Amino acid sequence: MKPLLVIGSRGQLAQAIRHFRPNAIFLERSIADLSHPHKLTEILEQYDPYAVINAAAYTSVDNAESEESLATIVNSQSPAAMAIYCARRHIPFVHLSTDYVFNGSGDIPWREDDSPEPLNAYGRSKLAGEDAIARVGGKYLIFRTSWVYDAEGRNFLNSILRLASEREELRIINDQFGAPTYARHLARAILMIVDAALKLPKFPSGIYNMCNKGVTSWYGFAIEIVQYARDLDLPVKVRHILPIPTTEYPLPAKRPHNSRLDCSKIKSTFDITMPSWQEGLTACMELKKK
Ligand SMILES: NC(=O)c1ccc[n+]([C@@H]2O[C@H](COP(=O)([O-])OP(=O)(O)OC[C@H]3O[C@@H](n4cnc5c(N)ncnc54)[C@H](OP(=O)(O)O)[C@@H]3O)[C@@H](O)[C@H]2O)c1
Repeated sequence: MKPLLVIGSRGQLAQAIRHFRPNAIFLERSIADLSHPHKLTEILEQYDPYAVINAAAYTSVDNAESEESLATIVNSQSPAAMAIYCARRHIPFVHLSTDYVFNGSGDIPWREDDSPEPLNAYGRSKLAGEDAIARVGGKYLIFRTSWVYDAEGRNFLNSILRLASEREELRIINDQFGAPTYARHLARAILMIVDAALKLPKFPSGIYNMCNKGVTSWYGFAIEIVQYARDLDLPVKVRHILPIPTTEYPLPAKRPHNSRLDCSKIKSTFDITMPSWQEGLTACMELKKK
């Protein structure tokens, strides 16, 4: 049987895919470096996969402001090269995109066909990737997700757990809204969809929103994380968690206020409903117990 090929190995999504598909082939950066798009075809030619999932990306949102050309190569030119490889072989190319393709106005969840208007360089590089893959055509699935975290890795959850164990007071942004998405829920749904899509008479190429259900702010997420930490007897020093506006926590890259994603298309197309973000957090924190 042909293997599943995953680009990326150590990132949150790649690790979550590995949890469900330990027999897939995972290519780490030292083998498939997405900053060299022209070398990718030759590398991919060594495998004979039934599908390729690109779990690697330039994800450093603030650094992208000063490295936009590198971010664009990694997030757009390389995905385009991989999409061409897949299209030539008539196999699916699976790619991830982001809520950051939107400008964050209003409070209505974004639908797949709403007009993107990224506020920052990372968002522009990811949007360029979406457009480049769609232009290649072929069999492709692009999943836009939001606020991804896992038990391991550099993410908001682990930052809050660390800061809550070190400080008495935390000030957390309360005017950006979206859905924290547990990497394993994301990976499981992606794998189910790839399998289902391959059985359909016509491959359902396109963009799909995919995040855990429900909505909160970073502040609301932090409150829940710390509550879990207390319940699990993890070290917690923090006594006050204060909500602040984005303006009180300036960062190089602008972030959208409204990151809500409408996930009804994965329901209507594949009958997939994602668990709530609270279920995601519960499942992830279970791993912290062990
Ligand atoms: N994290 C989020 O909150 C979020 C939100 C929305 C969308 N997404 C999208 O979801 C996908 C998965 O994100 P994630 O959270 O799993 O990301 P992640 O944990 O930051 O992992 C990204 C991976 O990409 C690899 N990478 C970076 N530059 C590379 C290069 N030039 N060549 C090869 N590999 C490279 C990194 O390799 P090293 O391990 O060697 O550094 C890392 O393993 C990405 O497409 C991301 O844009 C993420």
